Amino acid sequence: MTFVDQVTQCIQASESDGSIMERTEVLSGYSGKKLYGTLQRLAKEILTEDTCYLEVGVYQGLTLLSTAMVAPERTFIGIDNFAFFDPEGKNKGIVEARTQTLGLTNTKLVNMDYEDALEQLDKHLDGKKVGIYFIDGPHDYRSQLMCLQLIQPYLSDDAVILVDDSNYRHVRQANRDFLFTNPSFKLIFESYTPAHPMNLRGEEKTAALEGWWDGINIIVKDSKDELERIYPPTLRSRKLYENEHLLQAAQYPEQILLAWEVIKKFRLFPILNLIRKPSKIFTGRFKNANTYSEEFANQPRFAQKRS
Ligand SMILES: C[S@@+](CC[C@H](N)C(=O)[O-])C[C@H]1O[C@@H](n2cnc3c(N)ncnc32)[C@H](O)[C@@H]1O
Repeated sequence: MTFVDQVTQCIQASESDGSIMERTEVLSGYSGKKLYGTLQRLAKEILTEDTCYLEVGVYQGLTLLSTAMVAPERTFIGIDNFAFFDPEGKNKGIVEARTQTLGLTNTKLVNMDYEDALEQLDKHLDGKKVGIYFIDGPHDYRSQLMCLQLIQPYLSDDAVILVDDSNYRHVRQANRDFLFTNPSFKLIFESYTPAHPMNLRGEEKTAALEGWWDGINIIVKDSKDELERIYPPTLRSRKLYENEHLLQAAQYPEQILLAWEVIKKFRLFPILNLIRKPSKIFTGRFKNANTYSEEFANQPRFAQKRS
């Protein structure tokens, strides 16, 4: 069986059966069952004593620890600067306490900004290569792209990269830009949910929690060139990137964003329509808190093998 077949099997098993091991009471966090099920199966199937699992974005440890639990003889490293979703500064302590409660001795935390950590990653790898790389940290376009670019020297010959939150169009754009400029990497699987689970209700929310959370892109280093080339859906609109430049160059970008939060909170959108005609780029049920994944939701796609 080739590496690509092994990865495909792990994803297919998670598509039909979810996770291997249910999350325990001590594990809460931001992830869906099919997603951490895939991480767990990959950890069991493809890691060796020369390779390790690496994650950017640990939060309180759900994905890192639930994956480390299924392969106690392998090495699991998590990078987080604990600067987000942590108003009381408790998350690092929570991960450490959970690690102890679960009796795990195969994990390591790197408490750093992802870019600083990845630029000198060899210091943390103890001579191993990265076989599974899970990206779940900052979601701005540049960080997503840099998470992919900076890992390249450290990947094993057979490596798989999972990008969480691929519901977001700008995350898919970073993935596409990486795939297009690094042709030995291929998208092997993609699946999206209608919006971020925090913006979903009822059955749609349950399905996202049982499934792929906020959308997934899975990329393999396809050394044997086995897969057809496919790309995640994006939008070729200069306007989006020009807008990003305008925001970066603005004197008060935080105040602009704060004003946007107030508009969202108090649903003042009609006022905006008075100022400017609504844009056709921003459409759909979730257009004011959007990932732009609704039209692609629930259509999981595998890349085909080349004939
Ligand atoms: C969505 S959470 C990760 C969820 C986690 N994988 C789980 O299982 O629950 C994102 C994490 O990325 C971290 N993060 C955001 N920006 C970062 C950066 N520049 N460097 C390192 N970590 C970062 C945040 O501190 C946060 O804990």
